[in-house]
Amino acid sequence: LSSSSTYTTPPSVLLLGPDNAGKTALLTLFERGSQPAATHTSQVAHAVELNASTDSVTRSSFRNHDDATGTHTKFFLVDTPGHGKLRNVAMGRLARTEKVKAVVFVVDAAALGEQETLAPTAAYLYDVLLFLQKRATSKGKDKASIPVLIAANKMDLFTALPATMVKSHLELELSRIRASRSKGLLDSGVGMDDVGSEEQDGWLGEFGSEKFTFQQMGEFDIDVEVLPGSVLTEEPGADKWWWWIAQRV
Ligand code: GTP
Ligand code: MG
Repeated sequence: LSSSSTYTTPPSVLLLGPDNAGKTALLTLFERGSQPAATHTSQVAHAVELNASTDSVTRSSFRNHDDATGTHTKFFLVDTPGHGKLRNVAMGRLARTEKVKAVVFVVDAAALGEQETLAPTAAYLYDVLLFLQKRATSKGKDKASIPVLIAANKMDLFTALPATMVKSHLELELSRIRASRSKGLLDSGVGMDDVGSEEQDGWLGEFGSEKFTFQQMGEFDIDVEVLPGSVLTEEPGADKWWWWIAQRV
């Protein structure tokens, strides 16, 4: 390879998720390495360049940018606005950003017990997962599938659901959304075996299954993991998320 063709732009990791989940706070925490900044509602996408290491002594800590003992991989962390009216900004970033290595979908675990937060959070996640599934099944050149981390944030708050419940709540709500969005299909009376590939393409996860599980995304080579954390407190902190990202850039 010539030197000109080995020069490449760094890969990107996208921060998606509904408004108020903590995306911008998380980005500022990783960027500063100490305290997150005070934030306000984001209206535009914003990228910062970071370095992650998987072989330095502090590899599993986001503070490893200060650690000179390992090899560091440069990547862009891209914050997006969560507001529903700006969804096109975030989804546009997902569709157009080159070399997206991973998606971190941030959710407010302290509010997810409320249907008024769960419903829009799951609806957004549904759109993201279906987009990634369609991308994985299309015959495009860019076939490497994109893993998804569901960052269950705000674990410092007493109302926070544990990660296992964040996962089960989201799976149940995604099952509901899938059933309602494919209602015409299910009510049409045709056997599942007779359904055309076009309809199957609009179905999230295992076709015809009653309950949606994140594991079904494995069929499309898409790994979905739920990990707990908190941006504002040291414990549990954000190191688990950082380590997940560092291993994927
Ligand atoms: P949009 O820009 O509207 O999409 O929201 P966002 O996801 O960027 O949320 P942002 O980072 O602005 O955080 C929203 C609020 O949640 C802020 O007041 C944060 O201080 C707060 N917050 C973020 N992370 C945590 C956390 O781990 N614990 C607690 N208690 N509050 C948090
Ligand atoms: Mg924001």
